Amino acid sequence: MDINDFLKMKSQAKPIKMITCYDYWSSKILAETNIDCILVGDSVSMVMHGYDSTIGANVEMIEMHIKAVKKGINNKFIIGDMPFLSYRKSNTETMYAVEKLMKAGANSIKLEGLNGNQKLIKHIINSGVPVMGHLGFIPQSINVFGNQIVQGKEESKANRLIEAAKELEGLGCFAIVLECISNKISKRITETLSIPTIGIGAGSSTSGQVLVLQDLLGCDPKFQPKFLKKYLNLHDLIKKSVNDYCKDVDNKTFPSCQHSYGE
Ligand code: KIV
Repeated sequence: MDINDFLKMKSQAKPIKMITCYDYWSSKILAETNIDCILVGDSVSMVMHGYDSTIGANVEMIEMHIKAVKKGINNKFIIGDMPFLSYRKSNTETMYAVEKLMKAGANSIKLEGLNGNQKLIKHIINSGVPVMGHLGFIPQSINVFGNQIVQGKEESKANRLIEAAKELEGLGCFAIVLECISNKISKRITETLSIPTIGIGAGSSTSGQVLVLQDLLGCDPKFQPKFLKKYLNLHDLIKKSVNDYCKDVDNKTFPSCQHSYGE
C-alpha cells in the first residue's frame, strides 16, 4: 500500500485495515497478514511502558518503536504518531519530531485535533510528509475530556466535528482517524469527505478500522470498552503456557532427551 491507495480504497469502497504495532517480533507476523497499514501509536506508552495515558509518550519512544517495527515489516505503510505536545511548542520542535519519526522509517505522521494545528499541518505537508488527522476522542487531551469518552453527542458538537474534518481535508490530510463518536456522525463525516476516515469506536460507516494489536489479541482481561472485539484470549494462553513450562521444570519433564544435546 502507498499513500495513493488510501483515496483509491475509499473510492472503490474497499475497507482500510489498520492496526497498531510497536515491536519487531509482532511486525514480522503482521507483515504476513492482510493488514494494509501500521500505526506506531502513542498508545505504546500505555501498552508497552505502563503509563496510564498516552501523555507518557515522547519523540524518542515513538522513534525507537518505529525503528523496531520497520525492521520486521517492509511491505506496509507506516504511520508514526506525534506524541503529546511534540507539535505544540514551536515550528522547529515540531519539525524535529517529524524528522525523527520519518527517518526512523515512518511513511507519514498522525497528529491529534485541529485547533492551533492548522499552520503546522500545512507546513508538514508542504515539507513532503503526509499527515493523518485524528478527531473525536483525542487521548492526548484526556485531562480536558475527563470521563466523557464518546464525543459529538450534542448537535452543535457534532457539527463542529464535521467542520473540523472538512478543514483537515482542506489542509491536505490524507486520512482522518475518528475515535469514539456515534455511527451517525462518523457516517456524515465519511460521506462529506473525499479522503478516507478510519474508525475506532466510530461504528461501521467509516472507510476503515483501526484497533490496538494487544487489545484485539485479548492481552488485558480488564480492558473491555464497548467498541473492542477480542479475537483471542492471549492473556490466558500466555499464563497457561508459562505455567505448563513451570510445571515441566518442577517435574523435570523438561528438558527431555528431545530438547537435550545428549549425554
Ligand atoms: O495510539 C493509538 O493507538 C491511536 C489509535 C487509538 C488510533 O492513536
